[in-house]
Amino acid sequence: MARFAISRRGFCASLAAGAAFGPRPLRAAEMPDLMAGPTSVQIAPEGYGKTNVWSYGGTIPGTPLHARQGERLRRRLVNELPVATSVHWHGIRIDNAMDGVAGLTQDPVAPGETFDYDFVLPDAGTYWYHAHTNSMEQVARGLSGPLIIAEAASDAPDVDRDEVLMLDDWLLNPEDGQIVDNFDNAMTLSHGGRMGNLIGTNAQYDYTLPVKTNERLRLRLINAANARIFGLRLEGVTGWTIALDGMPLEEPEPLTGPIILAPAQRIDLIIDVTADEGDTAGILRRDDEDTWRPQAIFPVRGRASKSKRAAPSALPPNPRMDMPNLADARPLDMPMEGGAMGRMRGGRMGGGMMGFRDLMQAGQFWSLAGQIGLDETPFARLSRGEPARMTITNDTVFPHAMHLHGMHFRTIATDGTPGPMRDTVLVLPNEKIEIAFTADNPGKWLFHCHMLGHAASGMTTWIDVT
Ligand code: C2O
Ligand code: CU
Repeated sequence: MARFAISRRGFCASLAAGAAFGPRPLRAAEMPDLMAGPTSVQIAPEGYGKTNVWSYGGTIPGTPLHARQGERLRRRLVNELPVATSVHWHGIRIDNAMDGVAGLTQDPVAPGETFDYDFVLPDAGTYWYHAHTNSMEQVARGLSGPLIIAEAASDAPDVDRDEVLMLDDWLLNPEDGQIVDNFDNAMTLSHGGRMGNLIGTNAQYDYTLPVKTNERLRLRLINAANARIFGLRLEGVTGWTIALDGMPLEEPEPLTGPIILAPAQRIDLIIDVTADEGDTAGILRRDDEDTWRPQAIFPVRGRASKSKRAAPSALPPNPRMDMPNLADARPLDMPMEGGAMGRMRGGRMGGGMMGFRDLMQAGQFWSLAGQIGLDETPFARLSRGEPARMTITNDTVFPHAMHLHGMHFRTIATDGTPGPMRDTVLVLPNEKIEIAFTADNPGKWLFHCHMLGHAASGMTTWIDVT
């Protein structure tokens, strides 16, 4: 707890100084460790032994990190893995040098080495952190964890409990319950991505959370899967969506239809348990055969003292949530091509043109705006503060969860109305969507598909904000 005392003191000092700068970074000795290393955990059903994984802090999900809005987060990454790694703080509108993208914002951290992450948390909300060096393998092996930024105490919603539900899937060998290690399988890369055969919440396939009738909970759902899109619905509760990808909605939205949660997306819900004592509420997931299966089971044990409550009010807005200036926005065109059954004939890679056959040989299957993979030249150069609107056209037969680092954006409906702020948007096959944002965070920011196999086989580019 000393950590928070230090942070709060630092934060107040900076306010007193009237400075726009964050408080002075801690000396390295005061920095708590975040260990990345191999361990084994029981995720497979009974009858199987433990599964060998890579994790942060020895658990799956990795150590939950909690902080308060406006504080600094400081962690010394200690790499005890057999491979180089780095940590990305997904959704944090972060100082670029701390963004954790090996090869773009920092060097990968070699085995046995450390890296000090130290940055301000401008926004409250539900975020997560994960490896960003060879992430299609490292995230699939377990390198991710929740990052929860609390609102100022007076602004926090009045709930009985606040629960993080990290949804994930695992591709395990049914013989021995160990992780199947064909991460760069061409078949998965060129199709929908790596899908697990064991699906769970907080690394438990039978995740159970006892609740009470009339209890009010805040649920923070995080999709940490490599490629799986979760289709969810709740039962035995009334609920509201209060935030998407960390950012508060202007008004809580009553839950009616199913929830679609694409890889890397988060949704914050407030739910009131309506099911009676002895019944079961919970979250159901639509599976491939179109049947609903339990994703989280809420057995109802007892009654909360309070009776039915009024609908929740909105969360306080985060800073810098103003609508981007659409009239003056720079238009950017982002066609997406490739994949199995796609029309891509070739594209630019490493400065030259390559045909589809050569790309396949190189394990590359996708392009963003004609470019395959990260290039020295950014997709776009924006000046700080410049508004931009990007048309994303999915000319493939697969859905893609497109993520922008460093800044949130809004989707713009065809009639011009801006949607909620997000950092990851699902673009369905043959769909064209428009997003808009203000380039208010300087640095080199990735824009990529969060189906991590797609990102590794072509769907990664970047934007330079100066
Ligand atoms: Cu969670 Cu580059 O992203
Ligand atoms: Cu994709």
